[in-house]
Amino acid sequence: MNHNLKKLLGLIGCCVVALQSFGQSGKEQIAIIPEPVSITQHEGEYVLPKNIVISAPHSPEMKEVITTLRERFSVPTGAHVSVLGGAASSAIKLVLNKMADTLIGKEGYYLSVGKKGIVIRANEPAGLFYGAQSLVQLFPKEIVSSKRVEGVKWAAPYVDITDYPRFKWRGLMLDVARHFFTKQEVEQYIDNMSKYKFNILHMHLTDDEGWRVEIKSLPRLTTVGAYNVKKVGYFGTFTPPGPDEPRDYGGFYTQQDIKEIVQYAKDRFMNILPEIDMPGHSLAAVVAYPELSCTPGADKYQVRSGEHFMNFTKAGIKAQIDNTLCPANEKVYVFVDKVVGELAKMFPFGYIHMGGDECAKNFWEQSDSVKALMQRENLKTQEEGQAYFEKRVEKIVESHGKKFLGWDEILEGGLAPDAIVMSWRGVKGGIQAAKMGHEVVMSPTTYQYLDYMNGDPIIEPRVYSMLRLSKVYSYNPVPDSVDSKLIIGTQANLWTEQVYNTRHMEYMTWPRAFAVSENAWTPNARKNWNDFVGRVEQHFGRFDEAQIKYAPSMYDPGFTIKMRPDSVLEVEMQTEVQGLDMYYSFDNSFPDNFYPKYTAPLLVPKDAFQLRVITYKDGKPIGRMITFPVSEMKKRANRRGYDDE
Ligand code: ACM
Repeated sequence: MNHNLKKLLGLIGCCVVALQSFGQSGKEQIAIIPEPVSITQHEGEYVLPKNIVISAPHSPEMKEVITTLRERFSVPTGAHVSVLGGAASSAIKLVLNKMADTLIGKEGYYLSVGKKGIVIRANEPAGLFYGAQSLVQLFPKEIVSSKRVEGVKWAAPYVDITDYPRFKWRGLMLDVARHFFTKQEVEQYIDNMSKYKFNILHMHLTDDEGWRVEIKSLPRLTTVGAYNVKKVGYFGTFTPPGPDEPRDYGGFYTQQDIKEIVQYAKDRFMNILPEIDMPGHSLAAVVAYPELSCTPGADKYQVRSGEHFMNFTKAGIKAQIDNTLCPANEKVYVFVDKVVGELAKMFPFGYIHMGGDECAKNFWEQSDSVKALMQRENLKTQEEGQAYFEKRVEKIVESHGKKFLGWDEILEGGLAPDAIVMSWRGVKGGIQAAKMGHEVVMSPTTYQYLDYMNGDPIIEPRVYSMLRLSKVYSYNPVPDSVDSKLIIGTQANLWTEQVYNTRHMEYMTWPRAFAVSENAWTPNARKNWNDFVGRVEQHFGRFDEAQIKYAPSMYDPGFTIKMRPDSVLEVEMQTEVQGLDMYYSFDNSFPDNFYPKYTAPLLVPKDAFQLRVITYKDGKPIGRMITFPVSEMKKRANRRGYDDE
């Protein structure tokens, strides 16, 4: 045996020993989300001392890095943590490089855990912050507890990590217009995002159901536009509110609130992207200032409370009332200038999102002033009418020193010269914009819509479409045919029509946002679904400790139902996670692992009333008990899918 081979076998042997000892002690494997660029694990582990000294550079930007480490390493552990400027012997050393290291860039870091302690090294404080998040994830899950936890060995494996992000834009969008979430609730969301190395929260601040940001020069936007009638049920089908129903549901952020949210995000190396959606989705603004509408009678409109009012057909979008700003009205551009002027001062981020999606144009078609505008400007289609509007809005945004960003409808009728496009109706808008040399953020419905159901509609709270974790995880934001430099990043969007509270907001976000964070951070070649599932399971444990809700839907099956030519229903079940067993019954009782195990598509017995199914993993129940009435199966077999309801 030659020397090198011996060395190699020795190395393999040592790794096998290390892995075996993890397995035997029940210790968990390293489970960092998003998966770092490179991890080298060594045999052994570092046990935190009772007195932990952290040495860190002094600067205001370091505040949250230090707070995170101080809290996590003292609250659950009971250890004493002290932070010093340049202590020679410290358990945790945070170091800013004197000379920039080009490999890791502005947000990357090196993290090493060894016999002598822990060192995180970065070019910028952002990198130290991300390194600190990875470090916390190396310790047992109880490290995230808000209480003292006894009986845990506070140890992290010896490891060397090199890490930096794939994209500079790693975002989530939160719709605070359909349902309002308070400043504290938004900050909680930001805090959770920052642990997974997101750096942008896009706030959808205005829509037909509410205007959520104080504009001092336009007070009616929030005194009138921020409130509607509280309804619960299935949003979009509510009965129209009567005159006596109180309009006291909603709220808005004062400029002071925004300042605090922006600072809270900045402390966690996140930017806030504000979105003001126009010219469509603008009913709250029109109700506040009816003179912004093309349509007579707009002064009778009210802020929407979730009643049906738009039809989305193949022929186009038709609104029953005119929820648009009028492109032919000069007052609209004065309004936009005031709004953008105040926003530009409130939000330091370099971009402002001006919406542009789903603008119904059926009232523009009827409007004499729009007809006159089209003739004057030689505009041939209503889309060109919207493009005229977008180009003027872009100039206003740029006049306030910001970059203009919009949903992919802004491509229709001609894209404004420097616009950045957020591709949502699939990826084609993004591809088109990139081919025209524009920057693009990818957030397609097909992979990145967190408002869609986590799993099969038979068990999930109903929304018109479904997007499972595995599909989110399969996404690569850079399409083959474009210059990858123009794809500046990716984000997922949580629309909140059907999200009434923060617990459900969490349920819809996690674990799919784990997948989004990995799509945005991790090199595509390092992504691996089965490995990811193992890490997600460990982070479920962390979320349980931290009392954050998540969807357990990856453990539940999906169903494909067919009506056979002989009128027998056939049920196929699929799981996205490997190694699950599905046990079922047709006799109405609750199945367990003594019941028949699913191995092939089932034929529904003639007189059966319902199918029940539950998944098991390693002999233990893990999925939810699902009851699928045969009447529902018949409905599903008779239509293409739940999408076309
Ligand atoms: C959108 O989902 N309407 C951008």
